[in-house]
Amino acid sequence: MRLLVTGGAGFIGANFVHACVREHPEDAVTVVDSLTYAGSLESLRPIENEIRLIRGDIADAELVTRLVAESDAVVHFAAETHVDNALADPAPFLHSNVVGTYTLLEAVRRHDVRLHHVSTDEVYGDLGLGGTERFTETTPYHPSSPYSATKAAADMLVRAWVRSYRVRATISNCSNNFGPYQHVEKFIPRQITNILTGRRPKLYGTGANVRDWIHVEDHNAAVRTILTDGRIGRTYLIGADCQRSNLEVLQAILAVMDRDPGDFDHVTDRAGHDLRYAIDPSLLRSELGWAPSHSDFTAALSETVQWYRTHRHWWEPLKDGVEATYAGRGQ
Ligand code: NAD
Ligand code: DAU
Repeated sequence: MRLLVTGGAGFIGANFVHACVREHPEDAVTVVDSLTYAGSLESLRPIENEIRLIRGDIADAELVTRLVAESDAVVHFAAETHVDNALADPAPFLHSNVVGTYTLLEAVRRHDVRLHHVSTDEVYGDLGLGGTERFTETTPYHPSSPYSATKAAADMLVRAWVRSYRVRATISNCSNNFGPYQHVEKFIPRQITNILTGRRPKLYGTGANVRDWIHVEDHNAAVRTILTDGRIGRTYLIGADCQRSNLEVLQAILAVMDRDPGDFDHVTDRAGHDLRYAIDPSLLRSELGWAPSHSDFTAALSETVQWYRTHRHWWEPLKDGVEATYAGRGQ
């Protein structure tokens, strides 16, 4: 398959491209990525001779149309992804997530190319703390942040292009990912690298907010399954039944890294902070037979800590800048 991967120099996209090279050597993979602050050539360095990398913006219609015309399928990861950044400046989120997705949709429409659009559970808003309900494919959209509003807009564009123009697209909405190559601005890598650089971990508010964690390899295995076997026009929810409060995750990191359980700071809470996300992945499991393979959260967290210990060259150049930005926000 000639695969075009947007955002393939980011966290999930890079892991997806690594998996393609490892498990599908018959694929011809092209990555298009504008290499924002979140994109890293270093994430693709081990496989740079196995893929083609084009530095470019997915909102560049001429470039995207040319790349799509040469492809059998597009897997669309490219986006601005960090909620705290969206709260500070939403403009790049409108550009990449909305205009970028629109540009891609027009290109796949013109050339009748299969598209898989990677989205987030944050489009559904949040659930009450302590409840047992979970998001399903029919939960109404109710985004809370500028980030999730732009992802919801992109999902709606995909649905409209499927209905109006018969574009051959699927959508997946996944919960919180962790694993190698995740930017140090995000919760788990931030706390691990805080400890590795002698800083104290930082917990927003009380730490009661709940996220539903999934290893990035399990997310990407699901994306691959949907790309090959998913039903056109369908939305699939991806999650691994791993709800944890932020405090629980932080205490697990502290335990894995042999630190005292109270060795962290409470900092200013995020504005409009979503309380709880939880995914019901039944459709994906029953219709496509997908199941996560990283089912032991503590073991997967421990492997992730080990990855950050052994890849300091990958994250160290980013760390001081990220912490300076957080400090400016009281976080
Ligand atoms: P990331 O921020 O690590 O990487 C995003 C990549 O997209 C970067 O390489 C960046 O350079 C690139 N990019 C941004 N704007 C671009 C543009 N206009 N043109 C070309 N490239 C551009 O993000 P991630 O965590 O890997 O997330 C990937 C996708 O998965 C996103 O669509 C995100 O909404 C979705 N998602 C993420 C999670 C998660 O927990 N991280 C969960 C569910 C869904
Ligand atoms: O649910 C999927 C989403 O998960 C993706 O769509 C987003 O792209 C991805 O960034 C992630 O969003 P979150 O906002 O849930 O992830 P983040 O890593 O920013 O924060 C996770 C939780 O931890 C959240 O409740 C805020 C909290 N937090 C975060 C940071 C950075 C802290 O308590 N301290 C921190 O230092």
